Amino acid sequence: MKRKIKVAVVGIGLMGSQHLIAIKNSKKADLHSIVDINERSRAHAKKFKVPFYKNSSALIKNNKPDAVIVATPNQFHEKHTISFFKC
Ligand SMILES: NC(=O)c1ccc[n+]([C@@H]2O[C@H](COP(=O)([O-])OP(=O)(O)OC[C@H]3O[C@@H](n4cnc5c(N)ncnc54)[C@H](O)[C@@H]3O)[C@@H](O)[C@H]2O)c1
Repeated sequence: MKRKIKVAVVGIGLMGSQHLIAIKNSKKADLHSIVDINERSRAHAKKFKVPFYKNSSALIKNNKPDAVIVATPNQFHEKHTISFFKC
């Protein structure tokens, strides 16, 4: 059996929370980690037993995921997406 894709989610608001549930229910993906500037999202990381990072640089420096879902507000999409492509 192929290994599952490890997916990090950046921004755990309305949409990011939905992505967490979708990944949990997926047969093809595992949640790798959670990134959010807001400390309140640490509770999601605890619930799903994955690392929590407060910025995307910290995620890149550590164990890299296979894929990243960027669910931050629109103005951060470009910056985050380019930084992940470069790493
Ligand atoms: N809400 C919807 O119904 C809906 C539907 C379709 C698409 N979207 C899109 O999904 C994206 C997210 O929307 P949302 O409604 O979930 O927003 P939201 O405000 O509910 O959540 C955004 C999250 O991103 C975090 N965040 C903000 N800046 C950050 C940064 N620099 N680094 C890391 N985390 C950061 C915030 O702390 C928050 O937890 C947007 O692009 C939006 O257009 C939203």
